[in-house]
Order: sequence, then structure tokens, then C-alpha cells
Amino acid sequence: MRWLLVLLSVAPVFGSPVCAECHDAIYRKQRVSRHAQALRPYAGSRMALALGPGTSLEWAFGAGAQGFTAVGRSGGKYFEYGISWFTGPGRPGPTPGQSGRESPGVFKTPEEAFACFRCHSTGLMRDNSGGPDVTAFTPGLTCERCHGPGEKHVAAARERLPASIFNAARLPARASVEVCGECHRTRANLSDPVTVRFQPVGLMASRCFRESGRLSCVTCHDPHDDAVRSDAAYYSAKCLGCHTDCRRGERGNCLSCHMRQAALTPYLTFTDHRIRVY
Ligand code: HEC
Ligand code: HEC
Ligand code: HEC
Ligand code: HEC
Ligand code: HEC
Ligand code: HEC
Ligand code: HEC
Repeated sequence: MRWLLVLLSVAPVFGSPVCAECHDAIYRKQRVSRHAQALRPYAGSRMALALGPGTSLEWAFGAGAQGFTAVGRSGGKYFEYGISWFTGPGRPGPTPGQSGRESPGVFKTPEEAFACFRCHSTGLMRDNSGGPDVTAFTPGLTCERCHGPGEKHVAAARERLPASIFNAARLPARASVEVCGECHRTRANLSDPVTVRFQPVGLMASRCFRESGRLSCVTCHDPHDDAVRSDAAYYSAKCLGCHTDCRRGERGNCLSCHMRQAALTPYLTFTDHRIRVY
């Protein structure tokens, strides 16, 4: 798919403060969103405050909704720190998914480290080894990560000329979900419990998606803001946009019966996006 390649191809970032000139309201909520905070230097991060300064720890991954994981370099090789910080209980614990590695935490290839940074940043290029070039990029997701390079759009808009730029709103539902799915993932085995963290997989398996032809992530989420937490009425109103009612006669909270919370580990909880009758 061409548009996806356009977004994936690394391009210099023009910078979201420029977008604020004409899209101030979106800019102001996006810059404090968890997307924008998905990566930051380790020094001075909340994780560093909690765990203390770590020699060779360079980056804190995660905005802290659920937790943080540190990534650093040792002998020129990237590694993932074996201890994460979990926000819920407010304490450290083992980093999930590390058991399979030969030497603790060390990425086998520069490509593996590049993949981490690419999903958590904007305008990332490769260094000579094929790993992430962390000398010139924007940590966290800013405007051009999802809308592509903005320079031409800005130049045209300033001249009051027609100013096009990529906007997923113009795509059919499946293609729109795939834009989010580049990072939130679109392929995984539905029967594996871990898959609950890959919201697109569950959503696309549900009858709501398959039979409506128009359900996508942005039906329920503002892409420039965080998920609305613990507000069942907000989401239930979205359900009622397509369903008049439930045979059960329940109107207030559809989530407790059709979109449950699932604890993946004691510290990581996700929402089952495979909308269904359990
Ligand atoms: C000088 C003002 C200006 C600046 C700066 C600007 N935009 Fe826009 N933007 C506009 C205008 C005007 C429109 C409506 C364009 C149209 O319909 O032709 C627009 C529309 C858009 C749209 C919707 C496009 C569509 O086809 O639906 C997106 C997405 C967007 N801008 C993103 C950005 C991003 C990202 C930046 C920063 C890189 C940015 N804009 C900077 C003026 C600006
Ligand atoms: C470039 C990768 C990337 C893309 C593309 C992306 N996301 Fe995310 N998203 C992330 C990361 C990384 C986080 C985790 C931030 C954190 O640590 O909490 C996240 C978190 C979220 C959250 C949770 C915020 C919260 O309240 O906890 C929502 C909701 C979300 N994304 C929705 C979307 C939607 C909708 C789209 C498509 C329009 C999308 N994302 C596209 C990487 C991405
Ligand atoms: C394919 C894109 C992708 C890659 C690769 C990726 N992440 Fe993420 N990451 C996400 C998304 C999306 C979220 C938010 C949803 C979730 O938690 O699964 C996230 C969330 C996180 C969080 C917040 C806590 C949590 O588990 O929700 C941390 C910490 C994190 N990632 C670290 C990493 C590290 C370290 C790597 C490399 C080993 C990595 N990520 C690779 C997309 C990615
Ligand atoms: C996580 C991906 C993502 C990021 C980051 C992002 N956008 Fe968007 N943006 C979208 C999606 C998806 C839509 C379409 C929303 C819809 O269909 O309702 C959109 C729509 C828009 C629009 C069209 C008007 C509107 O409200 O729908 C503008 C303008 C825009 N974005 C500007 C920005 C600016 C400016 C930034 C940075 C401050 C930004 N976006 C960051 C995904 C993103
Ligand atoms: C964009 C429209 C749309 C939205 C939004 C939507 N659904 Fe659906 N849903 C459908 C369609 C279409 C079907 C399949 C035919 C039918 O039952 O009407 C369906 C089917 C279902 C089913 C039956 C599932 C099964 O496996 O038999 C349940 C339960 C359901 N929806 C609940 C919900 C809940 C709860 C929400 C909100 C969290 C929601 N839906 C949001 C369109 C939607
Ligand atoms: C029918 C409504 C609906 C749709 C469509 C939807 N979500 Fe959600 N999403 C929710 C609800 C409800 C929550 C839980 C909010 C809370 O924590 O109270 C949630 C939470 C999330 C979270 C926070 C982590 C978690 O799992 O709890 C992420 C990330 C997320 N959604 C991403 C997505 C992505 C990506 C898509 C598109 C594949 C999507 N959502 C489509 C309703 C929806
Ligand atoms: C107390 C649990 C509960 C709540 C709350 C609930 N439902 Fe249901 N729903 C069910 C059960 C159980 C079924 C399947 C059995 C049946 O049809 O009675 C069902 C079936 C459905 C279906 C499948 C079509 C049908 O009527 O058989 C849809 C659509 C649906 N619910 C939508 C919703 C929506 C929208 C909400 C919120 C307004 C909601 N439900 C709230 C338990 C619930």
C-alpha cells in the first residue's frame, strides 16, 4: 500500500510547533498526550527519579500510563534494562518478555533497537550500523509521524493555496485501522492472551468491524488525545451510535459485558477490543 510506504519512509521532520501556527487546539492537546511522551531521555525522567541514575541507561520508553522501560548502550550495543517501573503498584519489577534472550536484555541486531525507537518516535533515521540514529530525531509521536512530512503543506497553506497532507480520515475503515496498526499491530494469534494488547487484532475480528464497514479506532478515540479512562458512558454513547439497544435492556454501561478489562500481568491491564458476547 502506497500511503503506508510514504509514512514509513523516513523523512526529515519539519516540527510540530510549526503546525501550531494554524492548528493550535490540536497541537496543545497532542503535545501533552501519551503519544507525544512515549519516549524521553532517561536522565531526568520519572523512571530515573524512581530508580535512580543508571550508568549507560539512555532512554526511558513509555509515557507511564502503565509503566516505563529503560534502554541503554553497553560496548556499543543496545540493551533493554531488565527492570521496569510499574505505575500501578508504584514499584519496579522484571521487564516483560525478556526470558527468551541469550544475554539479558541485549538486542541481537541493531535492527531490533531501531524497531523500538521507530514505534516510539518521529523522523527517525538509521545510523551506519542500521540501528537508530539518535542524534537527530524527535522522541515521542508528533504530527508528522502520522501525517507525513509537512513542509509542502505549510508552504502552500501560507500562500493560501490548496494544501493537501495525508489524513487517515479519508481512508476506508480497514486502511485507517492499519495506520494505527503499524504500531499497535494488526497480526497476532487471537487465542494467545498477549494479543489483547494489540487492539487492532481484536477489533478487526469483531462483528461490529466486519459487518458495519465503517468502524475504526477514531470512532472511539481522538487520535490527538489519550484514551478516555473510566468513562463508560462516553464509550457506550459510541455503541449506541450503531446499536439502538441491547436485548438485555442495559443502556448505561456496555463495556462490562462486551468489552472487558484483561490483566496481562499483575501490572499490565488492557481492554479487550474484540467486542462480543462473552
Ligand atoms: C499556515 C497555516 C497552516 C500550517 C502552518 C499548517 N496547516 Fe494544516 N491545514 C491548514 C489549512 C488551511 C488546512 C485546510 C486545507 C485544505 O482544505 O486545503 C489544513 C489542513 C490540514 C489537515 C487536514 C488535511 C485533509 O486533507 O483533510 C491536516 C492533517 C493538517 N492540516 C496537518 C498539518 C500539520 C501536520 C502541520 C505541521 C507540519 C500543519 N498542518 C501546518 C493550514 C495550516
Ligand atoms: C508510531 C507508532 C504509533 C502509531 C502510528 C499509533 N500509536 Fe497509539 N500509541 C503508540 C505508543 C508507543 C503508545 C504508548 C504510549 C505510552 O507509553 O503510554 C500508544 C498509546 C495509545 C493510546 C493509549 C493512550 C492512553 O490513554 O493510555 C491510544 C488510545 C492510542 N495509542 C491510539 C492510537 C490510534 C487511534 C492510532 C491511529 C490513529 C494510533 N494510536 C497510532 C504508538 C503509536
Ligand atoms: C511495532 C511498534 C512497537 C515496537 C517495535 C515497540 N513498541 Fe513499545 N509500545 C508500542 C505501543 C503501540 C504501545 C502502547 C500499547 C501497549 O502497551 O502495547 C507501547 C508501549 C510501550 C511501553 C509502555 C508500557 C506498556 O507495556 O504498555 C513501554 C515501556 C514500551 N512500549 C517499550 C518498548 C521497548 C523497550 C521496545 C523495544 C524492545 C518497544 N517498546 C518496541 C509500540 C511498539
Ligand atoms: C497517532 C497519529 C496522529 C498524530 C500523532 C497526529 N494526528 Fe492528526 N489526525 C490523525 C488521524 C487518524 C486523523 C483523522 C481523524 C478522524 O478521522 O476523525 C487526524 C486528523 C487531523 C486533522 C484534520 C482535522 C480534524 O480534526 O480531524 C488535522 C488538522 C490534524 N490531524 C493535525 C494534526 C497536528 C497539528 C498534529 C500534531 C500536533 C497531529 N495531527 C498529530 C492522526 C494523528
Ligand atoms: C460502526 C457501528 C458499530 C459500532 C460503533 C459498534 N457496533 Fe456492535 N455491531 C455492529 C454491527 C454492524 C454488528 C453485527 C450486526 C448486528 O448485530 O447489528 C455488531 C454486533 C455487535 C454484537 C454482537 C456480537 C456477536 O459476536 O454476535 C455486540 C455484542 C455488539 N455489537 C456490541 C457493541 C458494543 C458494546 C459497542 C460499543 C463498545 C459496539 N457494538 C459498537 C456495529 C457497530
Ligand atoms: C468501540 C469503541 C472503541 C474502538 C473502536 C477502539 N477502542 Fe480503544 N478503547 C476503548 C475503551 C472502552 C478503552 C478503555 C478505556 C478505559 O481505560 O477506561 C480503550 C482503550 C484503549 C487503549 C489503552 C490500553 C487498553 O487496552 O486499555 C489503547 C491503546 C486503545 N484503546 C487503542 C485502540 C486502537 C489502536 C483502536 C483501533 C484498532 C481502538 N482502540 C479502537 C474503546 C474503543
Ligand atoms: C449485563 C450485561 C450486558 C450489558 C450491560 C449490555 N449487554 Fe448487550 N448483550 C448481553 C448478552 C448476555 C447478550 C447476548 C444474549 C442476548 O441476546 O440476550 C447481549 C447481546 C447484545 C447484542 C447482540 C444483538 C442482540 O441483541 O442479541 C448487541 C448488539 C448488544 N448486546 C449491544 C449492547 C449495547 C450497545 C450495550 C450498552 C448500551 C449492551 N449491549 C449492554 C449482555 C449485556
